[in-house]
Amino acid sequence: MTKKLYLKTYGCQMNAYDSARMADVLAPLGYTLSQQPDDADLILLNTCHIREKAAEKVYSELGRMRHVQDAKTAKGERALLAVAGCVAQAEGEEILQRAPQVDVVVGPQTYHRLPELIAKAERSRPGRGILDTEFPVEDKFDHLPEERRPQGPSAYLSVQEGCDKFCTFCVVPYTRGAEVSRPVAEVLAEARGLVAAGSHEIVLLGQNVSAYHGEGPDGREWGLGRLIRALAEIEGVERIRYTTSHPKDMDDELLTAHRDVPQLMPFLHLPVQSGSDRVLKAMNRGHTADHYRRVIERVRELRPDIAVASDFIVGHPGERAEDHAETLRLAADIGFAHHFAFKYSPRPGTPAAMNTEDAVSDAVATERLHGLQQVLGEQGHAFNHRSVGMRLPVLFDGHGKRAGQLIGRSPYMQPVHVQAPDRLIGRTVEVEITEAHPNSLRGRVATATWEGVPAHDACGAGSPNVEERAPV
Ligand code: SAH
Ligand code: SF4
Ligand code: F3S
Repeated sequence: MTKKLYLKTYGCQMNAYDSARMADVLAPLGYTLSQQPDDADLILLNTCHIREKAAEKVYSELGRMRHVQDAKTAKGERALLAVAGCVAQAEGEEILQRAPQVDVVVGPQTYHRLPELIAKAERSRPGRGILDTEFPVEDKFDHLPEERRPQGPSAYLSVQEGCDKFCTFCVVPYTRGAEVSRPVAEVLAEARGLVAAGSHEIVLLGQNVSAYHGEGPDGREWGLGRLIRALAEIEGVERIRYTTSHPKDMDDELLTAHRDVPQLMPFLHLPVQSGSDRVLKAMNRGHTADHYRRVIERVRELRPDIAVASDFIVGHPGERAEDHAETLRLAADIGFAHHFAFKYSPRPGTPAAMNTEDAVSDAVATERLHGLQQVLGEQGHAFNHRSVGMRLPVLFDGHGKRAGQLIGRSPYMQPVHVQAPDRLIGRTVEVEITEAHPNSLRGRVATATWEGVPAHDACGAGSPNVEERAPV
């Protein structure tokens, strides 16, 4: 019997990956993805806890979903409601108290158990929510189906999960647990499956992906650089990306991969958070601003055109005006192609949240955020402008907003809009860049022979709804 699954994803790329895997787990039970909740038999919200705003969104969404459930009940049917992800892990009990219509709460490390949890929920009465937020001894990857449903031209692949770094502001070590790397053979097998299902780009994911140290086929630990080199050997892997890395573990094998591996895209997302050594210390980041500068200098020596993106937090407890000035100076020194800048959000249970004495006022934090965004926004726009007139290979992965428009990514992660036929989805095509916008480019297909380019098959199948995508 086919059933409908409405799956809504918040948060980072890893949550998007998990959503795809939850859909994989539920497929054998007859669940197919639905674009709207109204006709769903199961509503699954995959949530994010990184900032207060993200976490609070879940409760308003649960309120909306209650109306959907009520409408179903009025028809004599039932829509089960499940909450997964990092809010589920951090606030499971609270969810069941605040939203008693929730049937299942499942954490990021136990979603392979969804079939049993759903079966149990089907048998129990509404209002008796089931909670599973264990960090189990078994490895969820051993229990997920080997086969991946088609993910479209670009596919996420989690290789490392959890975090042992304990930055003072961050919930991830608590919501995702200790750092674990998947064995190399398992990662490569999944990549082969993704390519067979029509993907051309593999995006390796981890909360600290550069700390990857999975067991290699030789019984030794392999770093990310080595894994990337092996991945590049797989026939059909046209593009490789990885996200998100930490400045502390960018080793030479990874950095030189940017010189040696043609499929590794010239884009590095390396969060720095602050340019002040004092604040970096207070954040427990474990490196200085100059260390960050040196990593960027080295990667630029190896791959001169590389685009560098970063995450920033302003208003961390204890941040003074002169610290913020250091952050602005670092931004000016490096020149970022893209950025994610956030106002510090105190998170329950984290060390930084207990430090209320040194709190920065909201007004000051807002002002600093705007100042930083101004500088970084101009840098990003300038980076995009430099692309005008260039020919860039663009991997098309979907439709743009306008009729007849496709959207794809340049090697530097810039979204590129082009008028082109649907059959170019899944193809990498030379595009002449004609216009630059703050966050995207526009261009025209440059290959004279593209009309003869055959379409790839097996691409673009149902990916889950992604609401907000913060960097991992
Ligand atoms: N693993 C990555 C980041 C994970 S969280 C790293 O180590 O850099 C993604 C981004 O969210 C972080 O880089 C940080 O900029 C931001 N972030 C995390 N916790 C936050 C908080 N409490 N307030 C504001 N921003 C936060
Ligand atoms: Fe770990 Fe990144 Fe969070 Fe730091 S910011 S604790 S490295 S996930
Ligand atoms: Fe979790 Fe990713 Fe958000 S790890 S807290 S969903 S940013």
